[in-house]
Amino acid sequence: MEYVNFGKNGLKISRFGMGCMRFLRNKNQEGKEIIDEDLAIKLVRKAIDSGINYLDTAYVYEGSEELLGKALQDGYREKVTLATKMPVWEATTYEDYEKLFNKQLERLQTDYIDVYLLHGLNQLNYDRVRKLDGTRFLDEMYAKGKIRYKGFSIHGEIDVFKKVIDYYNWDMCLIQLNFLDHKHQVGVEGLKYAASKGLSVAIMEPLKGGLLSTRVPKEAEAIWNEYPVKRNPAEWAFKWLCNMPEVSVVLSGINTFEQLEENIRIFSETQPGSMTKEEMDLIERVREVYRSKVKIGCTGCGYCMPCPADVDIPDIFKIYNDLCLFDDLNSAKMMYSLIAKEAHKDATNCLECGNCMNHCPQGIDIINKLKEVHSTLE
Ligand SMILES: NC(=O)c1ccc[n+]([C@@H]2O[C@H](COP(=O)([O-])OP(=O)(O)OC[C@H]3O[C@@H](n4cnc5c(N)ncnc54)[C@H](OP(=O)(O)O)[C@@H]3O)[C@@H](O)[C@H]2O)c1
Ligand code: SF4
Ligand code: SF4
Repeated sequence: MEYVNFGKNGLKISRFGMGCMRFLRNKNQEGKEIIDEDLAIKLVRKAIDSGINYLDTAYVYEGSEELLGKALQDGYREKVTLATKMPVWEATTYEDYEKLFNKQLERLQTDYIDVYLLHGLNQLNYDRVRKLDGTRFLDEMYAKGKIRYKGFSIHGEIDVFKKVIDYYNWDMCLIQLNFLDHKHQVGVEGLKYAASKGLSVAIMEPLKGGLLSTRVPKEAEAIWNEYPVKRNPAEWAFKWLCNMPEVSVVLSGINTFEQLEENIRIFSETQPGSMTKEEMDLIERVREVYRSKVKIGCTGCGYCMPCPADVDIPDIFKIYNDLCLFDDLNSAKMMYSLIAKEAHKDATNCLECGNCMNHCPQGIDIINKLKEVHSTLE
């Protein structure tokens, strides 16, 4: 595992970090989906034992902070750089910040957070932070030794991103980046801008939620297969990111021991600046394949859920995107009808309340896209 400098105090972190948003969930007796605790704790500890020392979670990743609180007992807490995020939209007064923060310490069973991020600073949340003086709260916690590095995450556009960067003395930021999104949202331009201002940059959604690794259309597979060195699609996507020296840590959600081992191998073998022009050309061609096929930029993050009408938005969009990727209309219709059979889960139940759209980091016009999907798959 390669270790890189993080922040300004000589901290070393692993280039591959564990994203803790996508732990596998099972239904409990009441039908509620809860994290498979046994598996998740074993995975987290195995990751740390294997040299991964950066973990990323958030207040709003349901059950994730509590899970990490348990997983990091028995001496594991001291071995990691633990990052979590303040849900700035939940605070209506300055005092709310401290209440939320204390709740996080309690869930995580710790008395300090290594990297504390203000979550999701799009224009709206950035305005909220400025109104309540949210960065003063970061200064306060830093002075008390309760946080060690100050950061933010963002899904906004580049102009907002630059404003946020220039607003405060951040140590780091977390941005969405993968070879499909190189000019989307903050993109490579944002990565370079943040690095030029001295920030460490963490990356989320390097595989676009698995789209680039487990849902590969045959046209893309054929392009990867042209290359004499055989690599799996996840490896290509991670290599593209690691090629850029401005990238500090790449976060990916992992749910199996196989993926964990595979990703550790990939990150041990990948160096910045090592990709050739031929490899970059291949990536450009695969990018074009995805561009021509993917109709809804949904990453399955689940931020839009729960929906008051129980519409299963991420699954519906996944079925539709898979239809666009693999051209299997029968299978897509069958999957969609299964969702429809589970009471109130298909697109027709949408009440058009718009709640989901306020939370979607990808800015998807969910209401109209649901209509489009339904007219294709009903
Ligand atoms: N997504 C967001 O909106 C968001 C927002 C803020 C923060 N974050 C943070 O960033 C972290 C990373 O984002 P992400 O989870 O979306 O990362 P990602 O790497 O884009 O997606 C993770 C998914 O990629 C697949 N995967 C991982 N390793 C693989 C391998 N070796 N081979 C094949 N497939 C592999 C798995 O999909 P399968 O489960 O299908 O196998 C896994 O669930 C999050 O966990 C969270 O901590 C994310
Ligand atoms: S707009 Fe429709 S899909 Fe979105 S939260 Fe409201 S009811 Fe659910
Ligand atoms: S619609 Fe938006 S919020 Fe919902 S899962 Fe997809 S990307 Fe995430």
